[in-house]
Amino acid sequence: MSHSEIGLIGLGTMGSALALNIAEKGFDIVVFNRTTSITHAFAKSAGVLADRISPTDSLADFVAAIKVPRIVILMVPAGDPVDEQIAALAELIGPDDLIIDAGNGNFHDTNRRMRSIMSPFLGIGVSGGEEGARNGPAIMGGGPNAHWERAAHILTAISAKFGDIACADWMGEEGAGHFVKAAHNGIEYADMQLIAESYGLMRDGLGMDAAQIADVFLEWNKGPLKSYLVEISGKVASVVDEATNAPLLDVIVDAAGQKGTGRWTAIEAQHLAAPIPVIEAAVVARNLSARRDERAEMEKLFGTGPKAINPDDLPLAVMEQAMICGKILCYDQGFRMIRAASDQFDWNLQSPAIARVWREGCIIRSAMLDDMASAFTEDPQRSLMAAPFFSAQIAKTHDALRKVVATAAMHGIAVPAHAAALAYFDAMRTARGTANMIQGQRDFFGLHGFARLDDGTTGNHGPWAN
Ligand code: 6PG
Repeated sequence: MSHSEIGLIGLGTMGSALALNIAEKGFDIVVFNRTTSITHAFAKSAGVLADRISPTDSLADFVAAIKVPRIVILMVPAGDPVDEQIAALAELIGPDDLIIDAGNGNFHDTNRRMRSIMSPFLGIGVSGGEEGARNGPAIMGGGPNAHWERAAHILTAISAKFGDIACADWMGEEGAGHFVKAAHNGIEYADMQLIAESYGLMRDGLGMDAAQIADVFLEWNKGPLKSYLVEISGKVASVVDEATNAPLLDVIVDAAGQKGTGRWTAIEAQHLAAPIPVIEAAVVARNLSARRDERAEMEKLFGTGPKAINPDDLPLAVMEQAMICGKILCYDQGFRMIRAASDQFDWNLQSPAIARVWREGCIIRSAMLDDMASAFTEDPQRSLMAAPFFSAQIAKTHDALRKVVATAAMHGIAVPAHAAALAYFDAMRTARGTANMIQGQRDFFGLHGFARLDDGTTGNHGPWAN
């Protein structure tokens, strides 16, 4: 019997990185992969950490090698593989053994599993890619708090740290952890899209080459936009392709992949009636980018969109300010959606805790998230737009956002995420909107009724009803 209290199943990129992280933090860990050769290759490659890693060739040996009560981490692809792995474990584990799904699970699946699995179960979002899994991810836990507490000593030890604070926390019951992770991924898509649009304005509008654009991102990474994604975008733009001796960025196909977590967030936001237009614009932009043949055909038909922009008409500083504004508005949407989900599913999600967990380790980690954590700590119920620090930032930068959107539009350069942020801002600061026309139309063709502004009555109908 090993004295390992924890085991990990699934030695893919993320699983093997997480297992090494766990071993490095001093925990003996048992590992298993369906393909035995992968298990042994992993153990052999573990170097000095091999002493803490026990490879096993069968699921039965894996379970037997972990001391009771066991903690079993699943790092297998989301969906059916998780259910299949849980079913295979069911015959082998004991009633007190804790199963932790650490993949990008859909929170609806996690809710279902939480209600149907006999064993203690947690669904945790692990963010930070391979580097994060190896050296410190951000971890968002979901499920009974007592189960989180059982594994917290390990999960906080392996997580990223902001100062000496672990970027690992319990988010709430059931699938709350996987929901917050999906929200993270939706925001990740939006952050990436805002950066890609700034890249497009510099490339197609201002005629800058990849090396020049890299310098801009690296400069922006010294200011309010300081973040992992701005940093790596500068690095991606700076790399020269060995085969062509040209910027690598110039030979990468402009069709975005997506495993789908950002899409899940856009779909869920619609169910919640939570407006997240910047995230939705980012998902749509990925879908559209994949239609390269159609775009080539439309370019032949209508001529290319992008027209050169006079640099005096679009200073880089204005673009930086526009991205700051777009980012704040996007996160305002994301956190309002999180609150809508918290109310809908009775999760009691805490925006301060979520912002704190996202400060290090995860893909959206940024300097601005510490400001968000402070704003939400001051008043957890207040939106980011209403928080003094951020309302001042928006007041200072929304003209720049408008200038970027207008200039891009006049020069045929698509900036859907920037434009969605601006439209959201304008709509949110217009107390008298135009949905009265929608209500009139709905009543005209469907007698759906409308409320009156003057006397507050509802269920009214127009004369067309007679
Ligand atoms: C993370 C990332 C990760 C994500 C991949 C691919 O937090 O580490 O969000 O979970 O799945 O980056 O995501 P897409 O294929 O959806 O871009």
